[in-house]
Amino acid sequence: MAKQDLDPNYLDPDYEPVVNHSGNTTFTSVLASRLKRRTVMKGTVGAALTSLMGAAAIDGNFKGNGHARGHDKIHGKGLAKGHTRLGFKAVAVSDANRVVVPEGYTAQPFVPWGTPLTGDYPDYRPDGTNTGADQENQVGMHHDGMHFFPIDQKAGGSSSTEGLLVMNHEYINQSALHPSGATTNGDGTRPVDEVRKEVAAHGVSVIHIKQSGGGEWDMVHGSPFNRRITGGTPMDIRGPLRGYEKLATKYSPTATETRGTLNNCAMGPTPWGTYLAAEENWHGYFANSDATQPREQVRHGVGSASRYDWELADSAEDQYLRFDVSVKEASADLDYRNEANTYGFMVEIDPFTPESKPQKRTALGRFGHEGVIFAPAKEGEPVVCYSGDDSRFEYIYKFVSAQPYYAATAGGYLLDEGTLYVARFNEDGTGDWLPLSLDDENFAARVAAAEGTNVGDIAFDGFDSQQDVLLNTRLAADIAGATTMDRPEWGAVDPRTGEVYFTLTNNSNRGKDGYDDVNAANPVVENRTGHIIRWMEAGNDHAATAFEWDIFVFAGEQGTETVVDGEAVVTLDDSNIFNSPDGLWFDYNGRLWIQTDGSWSAPYLNNMMLAADPRTRDIRRFFVGPVGCEVTGVVTTPDGKTMFVNIQHPRGNWPNADESRPRDATVIVTRDDGRVVGV
Ligand code: FEO
Ligand code: CA
Ligand code: CA
Ligand code: CA
Repeated sequence: MAKQDLDPNYLDPDYEPVVNHSGNTTFTSVLASRLKRRTVMKGTVGAALTSLMGAAAIDGNFKGNGHARGHDKIHGKGLAKGHTRLGFKAVAVSDANRVVVPEGYTAQPFVPWGTPLTGDYPDYRPDGTNTGADQENQVGMHHDGMHFFPIDQKAGGSSSTEGLLVMNHEYINQSALHPSGATTNGDGTRPVDEVRKEVAAHGVSVIHIKQSGGGEWDMVHGSPFNRRITGGTPMDIRGPLRGYEKLATKYSPTATETRGTLNNCAMGPTPWGTYLAAEENWHGYFANSDATQPREQVRHGVGSASRYDWELADSAEDQYLRFDVSVKEASADLDYRNEANTYGFMVEIDPFTPESKPQKRTALGRFGHEGVIFAPAKEGEPVVCYSGDDSRFEYIYKFVSAQPYYAATAGGYLLDEGTLYVARFNEDGTGDWLPLSLDDENFAARVAAAEGTNVGDIAFDGFDSQQDVLLNTRLAADIAGATTMDRPEWGAVDPRTGEVYFTLTNNSNRGKDGYDDVNAANPVVENRTGHIIRWMEAGNDHAATAFEWDIFVFAGEQGTETVVDGEAVVTLDDSNIFNSPDGLWFDYNGRLWIQTDGSWSAPYLNNMMLAADPRTRDIRRFFVGPVGCEVTGVVTTPDGKTMFVNIQHPRGNWPNADESRPRDATVIVTRDDGRVVGV
């Protein structure tokens, strides 16, 4: 199998899928180092819900058939109608090549890769013969993070029957994309139209969708909102790195623009109604054949060959040559040595303004952004968002804006100025946000002390400016003394309490010889199945620089326990075993959805989605995906009655039995009785 066909997790030669569960009674009984949990925050619920959700999310028929938990008091207004949190029967693990949902629910594939979306709406051709130009007008491949924007959101509405479904297309399956997979010319170049198609299958889709009176969802054909953003779309560089010489290229000698966004994994809707797409494993798209590489490439693993060899397109056009970041000419404004420095950001897209140019928000740092999650915005207070860097032993970051948020004037400018922090999880259950700012005395002192030493593999000779700090965010975080984590993926903020949750998907190297030892927040040696961590900011103020944390749950096989103060607060069983948590989302009723991207071997079988009650830690499997896929990206309409879930890199012929190729697709999940999903 070609490297390109593998899940990014498997690109790493050290990644070891879990293969042996031969009847040994595994239980990971790990004592979560923690302080006493704060109990439920009082009176914060109203503030935590945006107007978008409002009371519309509350289903009047809360008396479900699930557990009633007498001790589970719900505070605050609007959500107190009831607390049957997981009102469905758990589904079993599955290795079937189809989606499994609970009894009483229906799952329907929607907007698969290749769906005609814009321009002349080119039909999808099931034999792979669509051209690059066709793909530029069709839904991209490998659906990932996704959000539903109610069509009337800008006017303060919360439509649950019409909206803009915006989703990322993380990477591609070349075997499915082309008639006979990727090809190479005799001289090692690649046919340009294959490259064009591959670039176009990446990026973001904005899809205007509408529900008919009969309840069926469909695309709005011809809508001006329908849009493709690809690996070649012109974008602006915004924030501190705009104009920085290390981002200057032949395309933009002033370092103000670049082309494309790539490997868009998760995302985050902003409080002002735009969409931030993350650039995760962007390093793999570039090639540098120079004898030595600059640290801003080394710390990300840019290699001598690129994942798809786009720089070898046989047209030798500038738009493809740029993926070769070797030094070619006398100065940076004549070649693409800095092209990779224009990647690694969160990219803001305004789905309601189709002609808007995407904006790379550099103040949020440059790393392998998995996604971003905003704390609820409060009038007159800074905007705060969190972002994980998904690689082994990388970090969790937080951005706090310099300017306060006011709903009437809020916009992307709020993300251009502020402080980027990185998390340190202390052994005693406390934590600190460490500012990556040369204006901070402690950070500046650590930078000075590190000068002339090796930081990891990098001979550190200082930062020439705060711009240099941001360009080298990972290196700055190393120097700051952040806690290395077990691959931070998605984050989510509990709308009821303000607690922040993050998935730590796995890290099979944790504690091995030559790698970082376990720490309290990442306490499992050779962590193959991952865990979910959570924290509460000091004073429940998201801009605070201190927090208290605990581990919400350890993933694993039947019998895996999460132990707090000597008591097993979760023991996984057939109804909820899972591994490698990745996608994470709080629905508008405060239910936590957990999606997996793990090895699909026994006992877990296909990847899945579970629902959790954040307070009781009751966890229950809701959804199992088809063979080979990961389940990633979830959102509902504001009324909670339509759920959208993405299926990435399926195999075989899912979802269409009469086609020969797998097609990434969204799955629409509804209840047959029309009520709120999950209740
Ligand atoms: Fe794209 Fe970290 O998953
Ligand atoms: Ca993925
Ligand atoms: Ca992911
Ligand atoms: Ca993953």
